Amino acid sequence: TYVVTEDCIRCKHMDCVEVCPVDCFYEGENMLVIHPDECIDCGVCEPECPAEAILPDTEPEAEKWLELNKEYSETWPNITAIGDAPADANDWHGVPDKFKLYFS
Ligand code: SF4
Ligand code: F3S
Repeated sequence: TYVVTEDCIRCKHMDCVEVCPVDCFYEGENMLVIHPDECIDCGVCEPECPAEAILPDTEPEAEKWLELNKEYSETWPNITAIGDAPADANDWHGVPDKFKLYFS
C-alpha cells in the first residue's frame, strides 16, 4: 500500500484524489489518508502530490504512518473529487512536526 504522511497536514492539495483509480482516499479536517486494504499499489498518486506527502509503505519513514492511515480511513469519509486546497497550503510544505501540532 501507499501511505499519506504528515507532510499532507495543512497542505491537503487533493491532487492525489483526482488520480486514484480506486477512490481509496479518506478526508480529515487537515489531511487525507489512504485505506491500506483498498489501495492497489498503482503508485500514480505519489508523484502527483505537490507536498511529497505520499510514500510506499516499503520506505522506512512511511512505516510509522501506516497505522494512522489504517485507523483514520475507518472513520473519516471517503473523498472522490478534488476540492479547494487551503489558501496557505504552500506555506506548510515541509514544515516539520506538523503531526504534533494537529493530532495531540
Ligand atoms: Fe490510489 Fe494508486 Fe495511490 Fe493506492 S497507490 S492510493 S490505488 S493512486
Ligand atoms: Fe495531501 Fe498531497 Fe494528497 S498534500 S491531499 S497527499 S496531493
